[in-house]
Amino acid sequence: MLTHSNYNKVSQSMGMMSHLLFIIICSYRSEMIALFHILFLTLSLTHCQIFHLPSSTELNKLWHDFKRSFNKTYVGYHEERRRQAWEENLQRIVEHNKDAHKGKHSYFININDLSDLNTRTYLQKMVKLTQSTRRKLENPEVVGDFYEMAHHIPDEFDWRKAGFKTPIYNQKDCGSCYAFSVALALQAQIFKQTNQLVPLSAQQLVDCSVSAGNYGCGGGSLRNTLRYLDQSGGLMTYKDYPYIAKQTRCHFDQHRAIVNLSSWAILPARNERAMEIAIYKIGPIAASINASPHTFQLYHSGVYDDPFCSPNTVNHAMLVVGYTKDAWILKNWWGNRWGEDGYMRLRRGANRCGIANFVAYGVV
Ligand SMILES: *[C@@H]1O[C@H](CO)[C@@H](O)[C@H](O)[C@H]1NC(C)=O
Ligand SMILES: *[C@@H]1O[C@H](CO)[C@@H](O)[C@H](O)[C@H]1NC(C)=O
Repeated sequence: MLTHSNYNKVSQSMGMMSHLLFIIICSYRSEMIALFHILFLTLSLTHCQIFHLPSSTELNKLWHDFKRSFNKTYVGYHEERRRQAWEENLQRIVEHNKDAHKGKHSYFININDLSDLNTRTYLQKMVKLTQSTRRKLENPEVVGDFYEMAHHIPDEFDWRKAGFKTPIYNQKDCGSCYAFSVALALQAQIFKQTNQLVPLSAQQLVDCSVSAGNYGCGGGSLRNTLRYLDQSGGLMTYKDYPYIAKQTRCHFDQHRAIVNLSSWAILPARNERAMEIAIYKIGPIAASINASPHTFQLYHSGVYDDPFCSPNTVNHAMLVVGYTKDAWILKNWWGNRWGEDGYMRLRRGANRCGIANFVAYGVV
């Protein structure tokens, strides 16, 4: 059933977009069809099930609404390019959600902040993780300990429900996923020890971890970021060193650091059982992932499970904050209209998108 709060979520996520877009969007969930039927008497159920792409006049209006709703401005010929990408994505969304509605997919995709990027631009701008080279585990006993700890691990666990509620971030035009995932993983450790929510500076990691081999907004690896923190002398708070989505000179001030990394480790590769144990016992963990498919770019809700999301390459980093019986719960940094309030549920058990290839945690 669609409750009132669901509706708020829907209308919020659609923002100012017109009813015309609802004609397309509403088609993917029967409860939404019913809802909009009630709310907008002009819309009939038949309308909702047509799944037609809008006419060109409708498209002009939708594009205008998209720009307004997502606060987009384009200069010169960029507008035409972005619009073309957006129209292609709109087409994909209609087709995918039609199939999802028939039960062929376990998830829906939708218009979001990234839906005006074509595949090439998306890959160039948004997914900039460089692969961490995997050395032998520094601390092999960690694995041994894990399996000792493996008893009494609950079937489902979600750090958000334990109080780890964090703002929705948007990395914008900066390849800083590595910085957000490590900053959030350390924040989670502070939370676990003190029950306090103290956002940490991803921007410090962007500006300063170049000394450990990262490339600022041009990307970086989880390993280099953790190596930087090994010798940085601390990490500052988000408030003292806020995110600006641009790389600048390193402004780190050791006197204002509030936390030090005391150790870190990498989980055994491609081992989803170890992930489950680590999440429950240690806390939210940073993980690399393959974010290449356009279904990932446009992910909206449900358990993401694209068979074309190969485990053989990774190019993005997220924070795993929990798990259900069938999914990992991942926090992303692509604004509040990507995924389920900025989170993704990803099918467990098949190393989907290489989620278990490189998973790291730090201890503070
Ligand atoms: C919209 O974008 C402009 C220019 O990028 C920016 O100055 C403004 O703060 C943005 N407004 C909102 C509500 O995000
Ligand atoms: C972090 O470690 C450095 C070097 O050992 C030390 O100088 C600094 O005071 C520590 N900072 C915090 C916040 O514990």
